[in-house]
Amino acid sequence: MKKSISIFLGQDPTNKKKILWVPDQEKNPHLITIGGSGSGKTETLKAIMLELKSQKVNSLILDFHNDFKVFADNLVQIDEATLHPLEVQINEKPLDVAYKVSKMIANVFSLGEVQEAIIRDSIKQFYMKSGIKDLKEKNDGKITLLPFRFFKDILYESEIKAPGIQKLIAKISVLFDVDLFMNADSTSVSLDSVIKKLSVIELLEFPTDEVKSLVGDLLLNKLINQLYIKGKTDEYWLYVVIDEAHRMMYPGSPVELLLRESRKYGVGIILASQRPTDFSETILANAGTIVAFQTSLDKDAVFLSKQLRINKEKFQKLNDAGLGYVLFSSQDDSQKVQIVPVGERKEYKEIEQTFDEDEASEYFIKEQTRIKKEKAKLDLLEEKNKKSLETIRELQQDMHALKGEIERKVYVIELSKKEMKNVEKENILLSHENDKLTSRLKAKEKEVEKLAKKAK
Ligand SMILES: Nc1ncnc2c1ncn2[C@@H]1O[C@H](COP(=O)(O)OP(=O)(O)O)[C@@H](O)[C@H]1O
Ligand SMILES: [Mg+2]
Repeated sequence: MKKSISIFLGQDPTNKKKILWVPDQEKNPHLITIGGSGSGKTETLKAIMLELKSQKVNSLILDFHNDFKVFADNLVQIDEATLHPLEVQINEKPLDVAYKVSKMIANVFSLGEVQEAIIRDSIKQFYMKSGIKDLKEKNDGKITLLPFRFFKDILYESEIKAPGIQKLIAKISVLFDVDLFMNADSTSVSLDSVIKKLSVIELLEFPTDEVKSLVGDLLLNKLINQLYIKGKTDEYWLYVVIDEAHRMMYPGSPVELLLRESRKYGVGIILASQRPTDFSETILANAGTIVAFQTSLDKDAVFLSKQLRINKEKFQKLNDAGLGYVLFSSQDDSQKVQIVPVGERKEYKEIEQTFDEDEASEYFIKEQTRIKKEKAKLDLLEEKNKKSLETIRELQQDMHALKGEIERKVYVIELSKKEMKNVEKENILLSHENDKLTSRLKAKEKEVEKLAKKAK
């Protein structure tokens, strides 16, 4: 039976009516929240996460500020793993990845078109140097990439063709300081182990906002590909949650693609951002649910009041954190809502009591055991190597001894050959003497015969 989700958001403060969000009733399962700093967006996301968790829907949170750590069943310290930025996943075409990743890099580092093209060409070069013959052929699992660090060399090599390359490399050089990327060979973090229960991907520790966003983009791209492989379903099984989503909104971004396509694969998106202009008009017009809180900018208030079909004055009167308007696509009018914060929800008390950081880091521990195993393998190999070296040394000694023996034997043979020659010579001499003696004997016999005849 199809599982239907129903999320308690809060109450309408005027009539105490419960406000529920039922994604299945809306034109899509996505929810967008907009509001100024301190207006209650993060708190709202947390409350929704908790509800999703208690209704056994997985969620994957890109956490830029360690805001969600306390809820995690699965705390993903991604920097302990590896992620090859140029990874070509199963069924992906290298050429498509070259376009996608160059766009991501161009977006996070605010590169111009020419610079984006240089990156794209260098990615293609990188694939060809990795032994890929046809960039339009889907990866059937046989592609093995060079380690990412080679990408830097390839960029340097394009200097002849593109004079501005030094500037470009300087701009994106932080990428080459990130262990997550630089330690990556052809293997990379698997999302299978990440998407379960409430998974929080910690991005806070990465060196710059650019790197954080790029890691987010790469992971979402991986997720999209995984959804294609997994196939379509009409049951919502996963929510992707991105607070401060403005970092990741740009034309053609993985977030945009997810907003457009993820519904068919049973995946909903929840985004929070400060300004309505962080989202394109089409995104806002197509959002299944919008929650808008107070904003200090007049033009944003104008924009939002239009979008939510309430008058601007009402909107500007909002002054409490978590107080706002929600518009469901299934209804004509917005409803006022006071979001019930996490601390007042019973699920939170349970979580607070059971939170254990070590237990939460299941994935991290897995990665550590994997690394330990690899190390043990290496140690074993080294041990074997040592033994082999010893055996080789022993064999060399044996060989040395054998060589000596052979030399001695050869010497003995030479000696006996010489001796044989002497014996032969002696033989010949003797046979000569023999012949002489025989003829002398015959002569004597004849003499004797003669004498005997005479005597007769
Ligand atoms: N629904 C709510 N009820 C009560 N307090 C809230 C509510 N939402 C937010 N707050 C409080 O307001 C402050 C700012 O909220 P936050 O969610 O971090 O805002 P934002 O993410 O929009 O900047 C926090 O200290 C939080 O505890
Ligand atoms: Mg916030």
